[in-house]
Amino acid sequence: MEYVRLGDSGLKVSRISLGCWIFGSANPQYGKPGKVSPEDSIRIIDRALGLGINFIDNANRYTGGEAEEILGRAIKGRRSEVVVATKVRGRMGPGPNDEGLSRAHIMREVENSLRRLGTDYIDLYQAHSVDWDTPLEETLRAFDDLVTQGKVRYIGCSNFPAWVLTKSLWISDVNKLAKFVSLQPIYSLVSREVEKELQPLCVDQGIGMILYSPLGGGVLTGKYESGTPQGSRGADEPDLLERRLHPFERGLGVLKEIANNLGKTPAQVALNWVIHRPAVSSAIIGASRVEQLEENAGAVGWRLSPDDEKRLDDAFRIPG
Ligand SMILES: NC(=O)c1ccc[n+]([C@@H]2O[C@H](COP(=O)([O-])OP(=O)(O)OC[C@H]3O[C@@H](n4cnc5c(N)ncnc54)[C@H](OP(=O)(O)O)[C@@H]3O)[C@@H](O)[C@H]2O)c1
Repeated sequence: MEYVRLGDSGLKVSRISLGCWIFGSANPQYGKPGKVSPEDSIRIIDRALGLGINFIDNANRYTGGEAEEILGRAIKGRRSEVVVATKVRGRMGPGPNDEGLSRAHIMREVENSLRRLGTDYIDLYQAHSVDWDTPLEETLRAFDDLVTQGKVRYIGCSNFPAWVLTKSLWISDVNKLAKFVSLQPIYSLVSREVEKELQPLCVDQGIGMILYSPLGGGVLTGKYESGTPQGSRGADEPDLLERRLHPFERGLGVLKEIANNLGKTPAQVALNWVIHRPAVSSAIIGASRVEQLEENAGAVGWRLSPDDEKRLDDAFRIPG
């Protein structure tokens, strides 16, 4: 495994990280259902650590808290080996203060995450998305207090537009508060919106990007080439194939050709391409089976040639 600094921070994270979104049972109240049993999830986390993956992403909301509990069980006794990232923002109950980035909600939810994770600190605490109903300064002061208290070591954000991230950095700067060291955006060959504004901002400000859905939810593995496998993400979410597969058929052909020439898999080539984009620290992969994780971990330790990188860049550009 390769390790790099998370942005300009001193924290070293693996180039491939593991996401916990699908760990636990289905719970429609909390967005997308989990699909991997606790036992299998723990097996996947164990294998990830064995492969040298030290960075694991979670959220208070994933499977209603079950995903954090599963991670807590999996890392019991080896907490210090793992960089634990989790998030706050999503709705956790019916009340007016059961969601958001207010001081009230953050202070309550950090305790809930710590309890579920079975730890007394979170390495990277992230704002899951913007809360338009809370002043940014309130959120940043609450996060800064958590850093001072030692409950949180670094802070990051996810799904922030460039101007909100810029404003956050400015507020931290002028008030001498802990600043976001990372941004978690969606980014892959089939989701490249981040390249317009957020990526140049992260390069300029030394923010490490940790990417979600770096395989486009699985479409970049080539698994949908001859139909939709039963039980796959595409079977659960036909919309995924409409948005991320069908518009990119030419690109997927080029991806497969490059992978064949190199003796790699399409997933490994797609991940290798994205982890080498500017400002990218790590790609958070999802894996519903240990074999997927093992394949994806093979995306590091080598680099595509500049020619192949350019071919992929061109082949996945939608005209206009
Ligand atoms: N901040 C946010 O708002 C946000 C949003 C989404 C995700 N995330 C984070 O990012 C993580 C990853 O997101 P993601 O699950 O969308 O990422 P992804 O890596 O693009 O997709 C993962 C899915 O692709 C399939 N897959 C992965 N490797 C494969 C392989 N080698 N061969 C065949 N199929 C393979 C599996 O689906 P099937 O086996 O089910 O087909 C797997 O669940 C999440 O767990 C979460 O931590 C954050």
